[in-house]
Amino acid sequence: MRGIVTIDGPSASGKSSVAKRVAEALGVPYLSSGLLYRAAALLALRAGVDPADEAALLELLQRFRVRLLPGRENRVLADGEDLTPHLHTLEVDRLVSEVARLPRVRAWVNARLKEVPPPFVAEGRDMGTAVFPEAPHKFYLTARPEVRAQRRAKERPEAYEAILRDLLARDEKDKAQSAPAPEALLLDTSDLTLEEVVAWVLERIKD
Ligand code: DC
Repeated sequence: MRGIVTIDGPSASGKSSVAKRVAEALGVPYLSSGLLYRAAALLALRAGVDPADEAALLELLQRFRVRLLPGRENRVLADGEDLTPHLHTLEVDRLVSEVARLPRVRAWVNARLKEVPPPFVAEGRDMGTAVFPEAPHKFYLTARPEVRAQRRAKERPEAYEAILRDLLARDEKDKAQSAPAPEALLLDTSDLTLEEVVAWVLERIKD
C-alpha cells in the first residue's frame, strides 16, 4: 500500500482503534488528527486563552511549536514536552469542539498533517474531504449513539447517561466538518467487533 487511507467518523465510532490496527496490518504509520485539535484546546486551557480568540490560539500553537509524531502510537509535542497523556481529560473533551470550529486552527492542523510523507492511515472527521481528497481509499465509520456511549462508559458504567449527553452535544458541535466524502465506504460498526471492522476495511483496500 503506497497511498493514503482515510478513516473518518464521529467520536467513539471506533475509528482510532480501527485506524491503528489497519495501519499495523499494512505496515504504515497512522495519524490521529484529533490529537492536534486536543493539543490546541489543552494549550488554551493552560494559558487561560479564550478559545474563541483565533489569533491568540494560533500564536500559542506557533510559539510552542506543536507537532504530531505519527507512528504505531501518536504523540504530540509542544516545545519538547509530550502532551499526549493530558489530551483525553474531561476539560479537553468539553473545549475541543470550540477550537476545532475555527478556520485558522483547522488550516494549521491540516498543514501539519500534509507535511507527513505517505503512505499512512489518517483518522479524524474530514480526512477524506478537506485534507486528503486525493486519497484512494476512504472509509466512514458510524455507530448508534447508545453503542458509542456504552463503549466510552465501559470503565465507568455509572457515567453512561452523562457520557451519552456529552457525546450527542459534541456530535452537534462537530457536525459542520463531519460529513462523509461522497465516495467514502460507509460502515455501521454497532454490531461488529473490532476484528470484524478491521477485516472489512482491509478487504476493501486489497480490492
Ligand atoms: O477524534 P477525537 O475525539 O479525538 O477528536 C477530538 C475533537 O477534534 C472532536 O471534537 C472533533 C475535532 N476534530 C475535528 O474537528 N476534525 C478532525 N479531523 C479531527 C477531530
